[in-house]
Amino acid sequence: MDEVVAGNRVVWEQASTKHVREHDELLAAARSDELLVEREQQLLAPVLAERPLVVHLQSGHGLDDIGLVKAGARAVVGVDYSSVAAGAAQQRANELQLPCHYVVAEVPGVPLKDDSADLVYTGKGALIWMRDINAWARDVARVVRPGGHLFVYEAHPAVPLWSWDEDDVRIRPDRSYFAESHLNDTYPANGAREWQWTLGQIITAITTAGLQLQVLEEYAEPFWRPQDGTNAAAWSGRLPNSYALLARHK
Ligand SMILES: C[S@@+](CC[C@H](N)C(=O)[O-])C[C@H]1O[C@@H](n2cnc3c(N)ncnc32)[C@H](O)[C@@H]1O
Repeated sequence: MDEVVAGNRVVWEQASTKHVREHDELLAAARSDELLVEREQQLLAPVLAERPLVVHLQSGHGLDDIGLVKAGARAVVGVDYSSVAAGAAQQRANELQLPCHYVVAEVPGVPLKDDSADLVYTGKGALIWMRDINAWARDVARVVRPGGHLFVYEAHPAVPLWSWDEDDVRIRPDRSYFAESHLNDTYPANGAREWQWTLGQIITAITTAGLQLQVLEEYAEPFWRPQDGTNAAAWSGRLPNSYALLARHK
């Protein structure tokens, strides 16, 4: 494993203990009907109506998986390199008796068979941890069957530029849209290094890997807001903060 990726993994193992500490809260959240963002539910509705087998890359706490099953998925296989995250997600799914199964593995290079997924789902803080976006896209294309789909709901690549000032929108002087990487300073922090992929690089990687883009939408609303009540001016509707992407394997 790449040295920086290995360092990030150590940080994520530690950060994922939050999912164990917050087991009861996450279990309560898992029982709600609002696990997926409204727009992702709408975009995924035709795909989920076919009862797909879903592979969720970088599944984290696994609440999205429960949302996917409630919205129609036949089963979900979550892949995450944090054994703590995967273990916590598995325990929750078992308690709720839901068909979610977790594999501890690095992305890309997932130990799943070719063409084994009807839908690969990922996002909400996932692609920034990919060292090589082209290798990621090739792995997605390998795992998703011909005619199957990739769905991404993710932070917009411009997000690292926005300050969290509440009085006015500002671009951080220490950031560039075209930088390769920077140190994460929100969550999980602790020296984790995230990579930056422009929207152009992401789309090019996906289409070069053999997927056909069907939907690309950008949104003003971030996929996540900090729990401390921060309300950055950058989230007031003028700037892109998230996007959704649906692509079909040819
Ligand atoms: C911000 S979380 C997002 C996950 C999920 N969407 C969620 O909301 O919980 C990022 C997850 O990616 C995992 N991760 C980061 N880099 C990874 C890699 N190279 N391979 C596998 N998992 C990785 C981390 O362990 C973490 O659980």
